[in-house]
Amino acid sequence: MLTFEDNIKPSSLPSGMLRTTMLDIPAGMVAGHQTGDARIDSSMLAAPVKALRIRVEDKRIINCNADVNQLVPFKYKWAWEKYLAACANHWMPQEVNMTADIALWKSDKLSNDERLLVKRNLGFFTTADSLAANNIVLGTYRHISNPECRQYLLRQAFEEAIHTHAYQYIVESLGLDEGEIFNMYHEVPSIRAKDEFLLPFIDTLTNPAFKTGSPEADRQLLRSLIVFACIMEGLFFYVGFVQILALGRQNKMTGAAEQYQYILRDESMHLNFGVDVINQIKMENPHLWTAEFREEVRGLIQKGVELEYAYAEDTMPRGVLGLNATMFKEYLRFIANRRCQQIGVDVLYPGATNPFPWMAEMIDLKKEKNFFETRVTEYQTGGALSWD
Ligand SMILES: [Fe+2]
Ligand SMILES: [Fe+2]
Repeated sequence: MLTFEDNIKPSSLPSGMLRTTMLDIPAGMVAGHQTGDARIDSSMLAAPVKALRIRVEDKRIINCNADVNQLVPFKYKWAWEKYLAACANHWMPQEVNMTADIALWKSDKLSNDERLLVKRNLGFFTTADSLAANNIVLGTYRHISNPECRQYLLRQAFEEAIHTHAYQYIVESLGLDEGEIFNMYHEVPSIRAKDEFLLPFIDTLTNPAFKTGSPEADRQLLRSLIVFACIMEGLFFYVGFVQILALGRQNKMTGAAEQYQYILRDESMHLNFGVDVINQIKMENPHLWTAEFREEVRGLIQKGVELEYAYAEDTMPRGVLGLNATMFKEYLRFIANRRCQQIGVDVLYPGATNPFPWMAEMIDLKKEKNFFETRVTEYQTGGALSWD
């Protein structure tokens, strides 16, 4: 079985000697591969040539010329480990029982404020994860020139599809007006403001003319990765997660809450993967991480907090579920500090504390066994998913 220790270690070979095993292949098939320090160009290949095996030390997160079609030897073990963990967490929305939610929604046991909260919550999420998927597939994936990171991104893209499916499934189960919910993205100002903040950063990466390779372009990529991981997945989802999980803790909308718990677990891994990618790019390209850029990043995170707080006020105009806007202000500051620490910029709100300590337990949900061996038992009994 292949292990991480099987990485090729060519550096022990004498200098001047070819440092990798070679394969006989026709001329023209190896354009783009690297021979140690010099890139082979097809114009250089007058005679049958030999392709070099990939060396771990040639792999880089961005601007890498090593063959992206060859997964191993691994360099970034954290990316492969996250891919394996994500696969072990596989779940599908339609396997969550929505019967209790449907009965509650039809009853008179939910207040108007609770109904508004659920609808505006879904109003953001129903389109947010499509936006996330498009950002990965049409943008980020192209610019990350490392196969183990791409392997995780492929899994992440599928998870975003599952999340969009989950939100659609909740809307359909409750019999909500699909036109109303899916158009909130355009029609509710606090939701629109979050999306309008995100779109320019996504457009940068999805623009077919955008290419990394210059400090300016690489910084643009890094900025967009930070906005996507730390602000979109790391801030803009959290008011919504707290709201539905708080409902679940009160034994309301428990099917939706169970789905959100799985989504939260996926998203916290997306965030952690994004942070690892950002920090690796910083390490490999220290010239990008200037004081000026770090200040700009702090400003973006601060703007994200303001937008998410406006969304919190808009979804809970009078306070609901024992939650109020002030608690969310503190929570968002607490999370924003955490995001700053994760990527190595100064915290924005020293001393902020977490008013929802129970959220940590939700994120730590352990269900990393093989899904197909455990799902029936877990879903039938509730298992680790009880709401007490
Ligand atoms: Fe998602
Ligand atoms: Fe995500």
